[in-house]
Amino acid sequence: MLFKSPRGTRDILPQEIGFWIKAEEGARKIFKLFGYEEIRTPILEEAKLFSRSLGDLTDIVQKQMFLIKRETDTFVLRPEGTAPIVRAYVENTLYNFNNVSKFFYMGPMFRAERPQKGRLRQFHHIGCEAIGSGHPHLDAETAALAVTLLKDLGIQGWQLVVNSLGCSADKKNLSLMMKGALSPKLKFFCEDCQERMGRNIFRVLDCKNSQCREIVAGLGLGWSYLCSECERHFDDVGAALESLNVEFVKDPLLVRGLDYYTRTVFELIHPGLGAQNAIGAGGRYDLLVEELGGPARGAVGFALGVERLMLASGFDAASVLQEELDCYLVALGDKASKKVLESSFQLRQSGLSCDLDFFTGSLKSALRRADKKRAVFCVVIGDNELEKGAALVKDMRQSTQEEVPLSDLAFYLCARRERT
Ligand code: HAM
Repeated sequence: MLFKSPRGTRDILPQEIGFWIKAEEGARKIFKLFGYEEIRTPILEEAKLFSRSLGDLTDIVQKQMFLIKRETDTFVLRPEGTAPIVRAYVENTLYNFNNVSKFFYMGPMFRAERPQKGRLRQFHHIGCEAIGSGHPHLDAETAALAVTLLKDLGIQGWQLVVNSLGCSADKKNLSLMMKGALSPKLKFFCEDCQERMGRNIFRVLDCKNSQCREIVAGLGLGWSYLCSECERHFDDVGAALESLNVEFVKDPLLVRGLDYYTRTVFELIHPGLGAQNAIGAGGRYDLLVEELGGPARGAVGFALGVERLMLASGFDAASVLQEELDCYLVALGDKASKKVLESSFQLRQSGLSCDLDFFTGSLKSALRRADKKRAVFCVVIGDNELEKGAALVKDMRQSTQEEVPLSDLAFYLCARRERT
């Protein structure tokens, strides 16, 4: 083997594509039901967009960006979709001051992480961003929309976890509270957390190390850092989710690895997935639009990781049957070959899926190839048939055959196909 796909990337093979189409088409349908419009932004963005929005000290910006330097510019393969959507919203002045602008997107994201099950360097998001309101019902609608997508895909066993980080003053409070409580215990934390303590203290809360978790659990972190307005917002989000019958748990230890979040954050976790158990995540980012040069607009969104959705759905590529082909055309002899080629185009015009046999050899081996293609009919044209202006149509399931005039072939096959 001369080449392999780069580490942490993978080919999406034909046996798997059915899941992707189902996920993407299902999502398109549901997003539209919720009033969203599709948007596609470039895969390349300016690196500064992410240091500005995700935060200079976040793991993504510090360690995971695929950077491309070109003359004096530094670009990056986008690591996520929220900052690009907000950039596009501001750049194209998509502001709708009277209402919420709702965008959805799907496509590849890139992070130079250490690859493992459910963690790739190129992965795919199905996500959305609702920009233009700070109303708590928008947070609830957004989280409930994520849940609707999971249900549509038949994914079970997930859990919606919700928290509020509060406004920027509350976040500062929380950070100070954590520093005060955790600094005396610094030496008991893992190396990563010791480093996080200086760089991004919130990340200590979602460390997977058991000793770190134990210390953090002992802190008894509640929501005392929330100001009264943020507390009310959080309560309203919870009440709205309850009224929509969306089950959730509140967890003060849920923090997100991106700096732009304020108030509501949520994650959809699937305990069956091991260490990489988040199948989707999102939250509110009320300051980001202004931070990127736009007007002050409240906003909230989420993204689902398609590869993790596929793992959580239990999709088994090995059990997927190749799609059926309406007809497989075989020429016996050179003369019939041109006729077969022409007929295949006529049949396709009638809406029949067709493939033809590009090999010379016995009819038996051609029929084997037709069978492998899961052809419903095999159309055989040899010198005899050519003389009569006819074709031999073999019904591959019933092992019957019939001679059909070439002029009637499309009509005959369409009618028979409808009956199968
Ligand atoms: P995120 O949590 O970084 O959020 O990514 C969302 C989801 O993408 C994760 O829950 C996970 O399912 C999937 N994911 C992340 N990294 C990887 C990876 N290396 N390999 C496979 N799947 C992965 C965001 O990106 C935010 N932009 C979400 C958002 C939208 N917040 C507001 N609006």
